[in-house]
Amino acid sequence: MWQSSHTLPVISPEHIATLGEGNTPLVRSNRVGPSLGLSNLYFKVETQNPTGSYKDRFASLAASLMLQEGRRKMVATSSGNTGSALAAYAARFGLQLDLYVLENAPEEKLIQALAFGASVFRVRGFGISRETTDRVFDRLRLKSEKEKAVLLVSAFCLCPREMEGVKTIAYEITRQLGEGPHHLFVPVGGGGLFLSCYQGLQDDLKRGRIAWMPKCHPVQPQGCATVVGPLSQGKARAEAVHCRSHISGLQVASLLDAQDALEKTLLSGGQGQMVSDEAIYLWQRRLIREEGIFTEPAGAAALAGLAAAVERDQIQAEETVVCLVTGSGFKDGASIRAVVADSTIPVLNVEEICS
Ligand SMILES: Cc1ncc(COP(=O)(O)O)c(C=O)c1O
Repeated sequence: MWQSSHTLPVISPEHIATLGEGNTPLVRSNRVGPSLGLSNLYFKVETQNPTGSYKDRFASLAASLMLQEGRRKMVATSSGNTGSALAAYAARFGLQLDLYVLENAPEEKLIQALAFGASVFRVRGFGISRETTDRVFDRLRLKSEKEKAVLLVSAFCLCPREMEGVKTIAYEITRQLGEGPHHLFVPVGGGGLFLSCYQGLQDDLKRGRIAWMPKCHPVQPQGCATVVGPLSQGKARAEAVHCRSHISGLQVASLLDAQDALEKTLLSGGQGQMVSDEAIYLWQRRLIREEGIFTEPAGAAALAGLAAAVERDQIQAEETVVCLVTGSGFKDGASIRAVVADSTIPVLNVEEICS
């Protein structure tokens, strides 16, 4: 990621907090693309980051800024991935992390954060009820002021400097393709990731690295469609919801960057895609079984959205399409156990092999 350091806030070399994040593979689809009638489908495999999700890009820059500015304590909210990413960098660079997460966050994400030494608290109703979610942010603002801690939330509206790290996803896609894609599909919770990709592509357009602005498509589950729900009804305002989705990472009841994400979708010519949790699980299984990409459910949401767009005839067969695969299957054991529910592992005696 630090290859793009000229685009990041200036950090002196001794303060760069890195674990080798970014520079993740852009893999051409082998089976899923052709089955959808697409010849140029690519996956940006963010599962290859040090803690298994794209949030390491945010955490690396967050920790670097803290080291440079002599700060030592982080207070953060997370659905799980930001938390485990920050916890890893905190461990490596001697920082302290108090982490507030959704009550139903997958155990794997929480154990990862605990293993790195973070103090982890699950908060009832956070991410699900919009009132509770807003109150959590208010309380944490107070707490971080009182404790002189840095409040870290992976959203532009709260942490614009740290989110610059996430924009490097877009710069890498441009570099790896040698041009811009026609379409980019992005899973959306609070919208920060989507906004990062849009802004990164805009930077590339302004610098002449790409010749056209890719259509950016936000994808959300039906049960938490703060951006794509209003878009589907032709409305121009994002709407907070009571979250009914079970897809970890995409459960954000309040708006955060949702309004900005909605406006940038329209500016880029993209369309919002609303998909069911079941469709996300189905495409998670297909990414794993047909592409060998071990993803958590949220990491398959972009592909679920693409499949919906293909169904609606919104994509041409030859166009270049990139789907972000944002987090690893190791992050969500329950969803992987569902993928293998019909498989068993028999125990054999030696003689039973080739009997
Ligand atoms: C794996 C994964 N994908 C996508 C997202 C959505 O990002 P955002 O909330 O910035 O829209 C998250 C957020 O936690 C995530 O963990």
